[in-house]
Amino acid sequence: MKQRLLFLGPPGAGKGTQASLLANKYSLNHFSTGDLLREEVAANSELGQQASEIMNKGELVSDELVLSIVESRLIGIEKGWLLDGFPRNIVQATALRALLDKISQPLQAVILIRIQDSILIERLLSRGREDDNENVIKHRLEVYRNQTAPLIEHYSSQGILKVIDGNADIELVSSCIEKELCTSI
Ligand code: AP5
Repeated sequence: MKQRLLFLGPPGAGKGTQASLLANKYSLNHFSTGDLLREEVAANSELGQQASEIMNKGELVSDELVLSIVESRLIGIEKGWLLDGFPRNIVQATALRALLDKISQPLQAVILIRIQDSILIERLLSRGREDDNENVIKHRLEVYRNQTAPLIEHYSSQGILKVIDGNADIELVSSCIEKELCTSI
C-alpha cells in the first residue's frame, strides 16, 4: 500500500477522520496541521497566540509558521506518513516538494475527498468546534476554493490524484480510499 500520502478536500470533508483511521490501521504517522496548531493554541505558546485569532476567522495561518511545524515533523522520519490539511496553497505545495526531495521521500498519492456543501455544513455545525459557526464555515469554504482548490489541478497533472466521494458514511469512504491506495500506479 502507498504510505506517503496527502489528504485534500474542503472543511468537513472527512480528511481528519479518514487519515486517522488509515494511520491507525497501517501504523503510519498522521500529521494534521489544524490539530498541531490547536495544540499550540491550547498550550498558549507564542506560536499558538499568533495562530488563534486567524484560525477563529477561518483564514490561513502564515506559510512560514505552518512550514516550520511540518518540516520539524518530517525531517528524520522513517515510517510512512499522512498529511492532513497541508499544503493549503501553491506556496506550501512547492515548499513541501522541496522538503520531500531533500529527504528522498516523494509523495505517492493525494486523496481528494469531495463532498456537497450542504452535507459538510451540517457535519461541522453539529461538531461545533470554535471555528464551526455558519459565517466562519462560509469563509473557510471561500478560502478553500480560492487558495486550496488550485492544488487539485497541480496534483492531477502529476498523475497522483485519487478522487473519493466523501458524501457516504465513514466506513464506505474508508474502504474506497483503501481500494485506491492498494492498486498499483
Ligand atoms: P483544519 O483543522 O485543517 O480544518 P479544516 O480543513 O477546515 O478541516 P476540518 O477539520 O473542519 O474537516 P476535515 O475534512 O478534517 O473533517 P473531519 O474528519 O474533521 O484547519 C483549521 C484552521 O487551521 C484553518 O482554518 C487555518 O486557520 C489553520 N490551518 C490548518 N492547516 C493550515 C495550513 N496548512 N496553512 C495555513 N493555515 C492552516 O470531519 C468533520 C466532522 O464530520 C466530524 O465531526 C466527523 O466526525 C464528521 N464526519 C467525517 N466523516 C463523516 C462521514 N463520512 N459521515 C458523517 N460524518 C462524518
